[in-house]
Formats: sequence, structure tokens, C-alpha cells
Amino acid sequence: MASSNKNVSKIKGVNLLAWAEERMPILNNISKRFIQEKPLNGVKIGVALHLEKKTGVLLRTLQKGGAKVSASSCNPLTTDDNVAVALSDEMNIHAWSNQTDDEYYECLINVLESKPDIIIDDGCDLIFLAHKKYPELVNNIFGACEETTTGIVRLRAMQKDNALRFPVVAVNNAYSKYLFDNRYGTGQSVIEGILSATNTLIAGKNVIVVGYGWCGRGIAHRLKGLGAKVFVVETASTSTDGSSGYHRALEALYDGCWVGSLNDVADIGDIFISATGNKHAVGKHHLQKMKDGAILANAGHFNNEIDLNGLESISISSDEILPNVDKYILEDGKHLILLSKGRLVNLSQPTGQGHPIEIMDASFATQALCVEHLVKNYKNLDSSICDVPLTIDNEVARIALESHEIYLEELSEDQKKYLQTWQEGT
Ligand code: NAI
Repeated sequence: MASSNKNVSKIKGVNLLAWAEERMPILNNISKRFIQEKPLNGVKIGVALHLEKKTGVLLRTLQKGGAKVSASSCNPLTTDDNVAVALSDEMNIHAWSNQTDDEYYECLINVLESKPDIIIDDGCDLIFLAHKKYPELVNNIFGACEETTTGIVRLRAMQKDNALRFPVVAVNNAYSKYLFDNRYGTGQSVIEGILSATNTLIAGKNVIVVGYGWCGRGIAHRLKGLGAKVFVVETASTSTDGSSGYHRALEALYDGCWVGSLNDVADIGDIFISATGNKHAVGKHHLQKMKDGAILANAGHFNNEIDLNGLESISISSDEILPNVDKYILEDGKHLILLSKGRLVNLSQPTGQGHPIEIMDASFATQALCVEHLVKNYKNLDSSICDVPLTIDNEVARIALESHEIYLEELSEDQKKYLQTWQEGT
């Protein structure tokens, strides 16, 4: 079930998939082995990932390993219809762009009705829905892989309540994922998403980055390179890797950004970008202070980082003036621009293309290898959040380097021994 939109072109989808496939050496390497070894033979995999060309290459890799794939998107706005139509010749696709919330959940239900053995999720909606509505199915699921920070936060809450019924590999927390995907991937693609929606100039603008986690860091660094004056907003919140909002604020300061609270800079920002994983990071009281024409964009997983009800409540009208560009006229006469309806600005169709292909190659290679790990080891894993095995994490980074023809210094046996034992320094 893909789009009925008449402008959708299967040939374009086929070409987009081929374009990505030729530029994903790590997944190609895994595919070759999967074709020979068929490690996923007969395994049913239910997927909820942003359904676009790079995801298509992952799904094909899983099929080459022998899996039966049923896939939907993990967000109502992010399916590339051309790719979805092209893929639906090869596997069960339940996705199209610009879905209502009901349609989005209907597609997740379709995926669960394929009775998957393994789930691949991004944001935990599919895992959460399975636990809430399909208790019998949940008992038979081997395990799942979770792609993003917000999904891990939700899983931690489920684990704390003893609600988790199968092991979930925290793919987001692999070095090969968050160091590159969250930082360089989001850094580049969020700016690309804003530019392709607005065609605005970045140089000289006051850009407020709300949240200096892995995504916020990447966005802020890329903005500086384009000549923006970057202001970072942080909070004393907890975070996924142990460093607090204080540490991240200090890091932003030493990285050369202005740092403080959103209240202090709400009235000078030209562009606001949220990347917090938290609700209402940009609140109604901030929106009221903003200057005429300020642009609002969200990079965080859910569309609750900007208080959209608050925005509605202080507006007298709103109008979609361009694809993914809504103009809100406020009670006091000024206007604000909201991109992608407050959803992921870098992935919302038709202006967002998502992360660069090479970045998703590493993230999705980690996914493919973690699925194989679950198939081989699920019987020995607890129903809890598990780390990506270091062997997989290292393997992905090694193949990525080799695809750039970079080969590193090999340690001698003597050097290895030196690092592992107490030695005198002479
Ligand atoms: P992170 O946990 O590393 O960083 C989040 C930061 O936001 C933390 O430093 C935290 O202190 C700060 N924060 C929390 N509430 C705040 C508030 N009210 N005001 C200011 N700062 C606040 O998370 P990461 O990996 O950077 O991810 C952020 C969000 O982006 C998550 O929702 C994640 O799922 C999503 N994500 C989006 C991607 C995309 O393609 N757009 C890619 C990867 C992740």
C-alpha cells in the first residue's frame, strides 16, 4: 500500500534507490555476505523507519539475507512516495507521504499484522504499539533494534516499569551511529532542509540552536561554517551519555558559541532550531517575544519541541504559503514562519532528503548486523535494552574507512602487550 498520488514516478524511485545503493559500500559489503550465507532465512522483519532511498537499500539488504520485510514510515510526513512505490514491487510497504495521524497508525498496525519476529524502529512507536495492543505477538518477538535517541528514552521508561517484553538493541548508542549520524548527518541535513524550504541566507543571521547534544552540536558547527552567529540554549537536563546540560553548555561556550537561556535571545533570533528530544523546548512565552519573520524549525524526533498549540493560540491565521512553509499571523500583527509543521525539518517531504547517503550507510549497516546478532543470540538475551556489540561497532567503522581507502597503523604484539600491562616508562 503506497501512494495513489498521480505525480509519483516508479522510475524515479528505482533511480533514487540505485543512486543510494551505489554509494553505500558498507551495506554492499554486508549484502554480498548475506546473499551467500542467508543468515536471516525465513525471519519476518517489521520495520518503521523514514521510508526513503537509503532505507530502501537497508530493506533490500535484509531481504538478500533471506528475511521477509514489511515496512512503514516512523513519521507521517517523511515517506518518499517514489521510493515507496518502487519498493512495493519487492516487499510489503505500508507508507505514503503526508499521512494523517490515523493513517500513520493504520500503517504501523499493518506492519504488526505481518507478525514480525524482529522489529526495527525509529522513535519506538512500533515497539510501543506492539506492547500496548498485541500481547500475544510480543511474546513471540525475538527482539528489536532502535535507531534514535528519543526511542531509547522511551525504552528506558518502559524498562524502568518492567514493561519491556523482548530485548532491544540500542543502535542509536553505537559509536558508529551517534558520532556520525546524529552529529554530521543531522548537522548537514537540517541546514539543507531549511535552505531547500526557504532559500534563505545563513551568513550574518542570528541562529538559535536549542539543545547541544549530538544533533545540536552538528547543527551549530555547520551553521558557524556558513557564517551564522550561533546562540546555543541548554538546560540542566539529564542526557543519554552521562554529561549534563551544564557540561554541554560549557562545551558550546568553548566551541565559540553564545550560551544561555531562550528567554534571553528569543527577541533577536532570525532562525530557531530545536534538537532536544524534549517537549515545548520552544514555548508560547518564547514565541510571543520573537521578532517579525522569525523562522522556526525542529530537528528533534517528535513534533512537540515547538509548542504548536501555543503558537495556534496566539495566532489569528495560518497559511501554507510554500511546501513545508506555514506563515502564522500573530495577534500583535507580526508573523512567524513554521517549517515542516514542526516535524523533522530534514526529513519532511518534499523539501527534506534526510541524512547524506554515506552517513546512513554506517547507521544502517549497524542495523543490519544487529538484526543478524539478534537472530543468532536472542535466546541468550534478557528483555532489556542491550548495547550494540563492540565487534559490530568496530567492524562498521573499519569498513567505512576502507571504503575511503584508509588503512590504519597496525599495533605490534609488543605494543599491544605494553598497553595491557603495567610498564616502566623508560
Ligand atoms: P541528546 O540527548 O544528545 O541531546 C539533547 C540535548 O538537549 C541535551 O544536551 C539536553 O540537555 C538538551 N535539552 C533538553 N531539554 C532542553 C530544553 N528544554 N532546552 C534546551 N536544551 C534542552 O540527543 P540527540 O542525539 O542530540 O537527539 C536530539 C533529538 O533529535 C532526539 O529527539 C533524537 O531522537 C532526534 N534525532 C533527530 C535526527 C534527525 O534526523 N533530525 C537524527 C538523530 C536524532
